[in-house]
Amino acid sequence: MAIYLDNAATSFPKPEEVHHAVSATLRNTGANPGRGGHHLALEAGRIVFEAREAAADIIGARDASRIAFTGNATEAINFGLLGLLRPGDRVVTSTMEHNAVTRPLRALQDLGVRVVKVAADGRGRIDPAEIRRACAEKTAMVVLSHCSNVTGTLQPIEEIGPWCRREGIVFFVDAAQSAGIFALDVADMGIDLLAAPGHKGLMGPQGTGFLYVREGLELRPLVYGGTGANSSSDLPPEQMPERLEAGTLNTPGLAGLTAGIRFLRREGLAAVRAHEAELLGELIAGLSAIPGIKLYGPRDPLFHGGALSLTLGDYDPAEIGFLLDREYGILARVGLHCAPDAHRTIGTFPRGTVRLSPGYFNTLDEMRTVVGALSALAAHPPG
Ligand code: ALA
Repeated sequence: MAIYLDNAATSFPKPEEVHHAVSATLRNTGANPGRGGHHLALEAGRIVFEAREAAADIIGARDASRIAFTGNATEAINFGLLGLLRPGDRVVTSTMEHNAVTRPLRALQDLGVRVVKVAADGRGRIDPAEIRRACAEKTAMVVLSHCSNVTGTLQPIEEIGPWCRREGIVFFVDAAQSAGIFALDVADMGIDLLAAPGHKGLMGPQGTGFLYVREGLELRPLVYGGTGANSSSDLPPEQMPERLEAGTLNTPGLAGLTAGIRFLRREGLAAVRAHEAELLGELIAGLSAIPGIKLYGPRDPLFHGGALSLTLGDYDPAEIGFLLDREYGILARVGLHCAPDAHRTIGTFPRGTVRLSPGYFNTLDEMRTVVGALSALAAHPPG
């Protein structure tokens, strides 16, 4: 049996009820939500409605209509950045961002948006005082990942968000590595925009994600087309979520997302997180004792999301990934993890790191096997 340690890329396996919800929707419902008045279309609409309520609930949003479904977090981030920022705007971000943030910002920069990157420290943490300093000039938006997909570093968004709110700066959180893993409350945290994948911590299928848009914030759509409403107009609807949801939604995927979120609710977010922190603690303790292994990011698993990066002596991370898979059946991601700036920040550019990202279905025994495997690799450095 393989040991899957790539939950930061997508969670696997999925809870049994997620499989059931997807297949039951494909088998029994199959219609297009919001398009027809027949009973199967209404049933599909109900499935989407439930997913919207579940997604809103897990991030503390009171109005589910402020959730627009997307195919993944990347799409949601693009909708938020390109839908709001205009030439001449200034945006503050960090050196720990994924390309899902960095690349749309680069495209916007070419159109005249000013982008300021705040440097994180060697463990990937951003100092809120640095964000405040960077916003000394008039700033339209601060956009940050909540938890790094490279080092697992949790950023102090609960401090940065309320400050942005007081200053009238839009605060946009990329929750790709935190939704379903850490508690999120968009109201308390002063979050105006939040992008989340459905297929990572929320346990849903790939092809699901969403963007939360705070009431009062109007985004230009990126995708135009039919929404099932206001069909007589050649303009997109003004109201959320239809404004950002042109085209047929992924109804089977959204049924799976609801099932994933319900699973988390039933197990208890705190229990899920406690188990993942215990797994990380085991890895951090075991791996730090191996000569030649260098760990990145915070040491305390309580301030550490699911991604743990390491390097081992002269080994190329790609070689370790290959050996872990072939010799031990351990599945890890290696390289830059689509976040080159983060690697420049922690000093692992351009080779990157080996990333271990345990999830809820991993066990302590598996972590011990991983420590044993890396210990064996450390004892036989590449010739
Ligand atoms: N962004 C995902 C990762 O870090 C895919 O692996």
